[in-house]
Amino acid sequence: MDTRPVTVPEISGRKNSEKKITALTAYDYSFAKLLDATDLDIILVGDSLGMVSLGHENTLAVTMENMIDHTRAVKQGAQRALVVGDMPFMSYQVSVEQAVTNAGRLIQEGGASAVKLEGGARMADRVQAIVQAGIPVMGHIGLTPQSVHQFGGYKVQGKNYLDSRQIKQDARDLQSAGIFALVLEGIPGELAEEITAELKLPTIGIGAGAKCDGQILVLHDLLGLNQDFVPKFVKQYAQLADSLKNAVAKYIQEVRTETFPGQEHTYHSKQAKLKQVNDGNRN
Ligand code: KIV
Repeated sequence: MDTRPVTVPEISGRKNSEKKITALTAYDYSFAKLLDATDLDIILVGDSLGMVSLGHENTLAVTMENMIDHTRAVKQGAQRALVVGDMPFMSYQVSVEQAVTNAGRLIQEGGASAVKLEGGARMADRVQAIVQAGIPVMGHIGLTPQSVHQFGGYKVQGKNYLDSRQIKQDARDLQSAGIFALVLEGIPGELAEEITAELKLPTIGIGAGAKCDGQILVLHDLLGLNQDFVPKFVKQYAQLADSLKNAVAKYIQEVRTETFPGQEHTYHSKQAKLKQVNDGNRN
């Protein structure tokens, strides 16, 4: 396995590569460290943090402070994978200046190597200004969760001609604005394939079929840690929620039956140890 740090130019160079880009979310040091020990390319500190770790109903309540704290924690666990920090709702929508300032905070205070923000043509001026400040930007279009109220729910986007035309235009405008990679979320596989074929930069799909240049999933979905609704595009590669519950049930049972802690988990005083040796000699 290559242990050199993954860079932004390396990711943008993986367009049409046989080696697909792999990305997952993480929100804390421990998971980041585990992911960093694999061959994974990108760790996204997604604003899905709001739902996965903070228990919010959607991503809208996530703040810059939340994102900075969790990005820093992830960065401390990740020496190799590229760490991308997500820009939370209302941290870039108000003005170009606000967008550049907050992108800068994710880099300076959070330690991210790049930022991600949602939206197409309407966000192109922000993307351009952030890139001009020297900060790599990952785009994100399609079913963008920060627009959940505008969409009227988490609905697949780009299913009709006009919507798909707009999404394609969004992709082009973001490419012109200077993004290094583009997340395509919740759109038909055919549309993702067309966008991927047209763009010069890599696309990373989530619920966008197999023809993107890479894939991203929420880590807790992949691990089967989320036992609520499992969307169609998620594949659970483990059932860690069940493993966790079984482990905790065993712990409770062993504590209550005084099976845990055993002798091997117990510290002893010097006196007690000496008594043990003496008792042994006498027998
Ligand atoms: O916040 C998030 O987790 C995302 C995804 C693309 C998975 O934006």
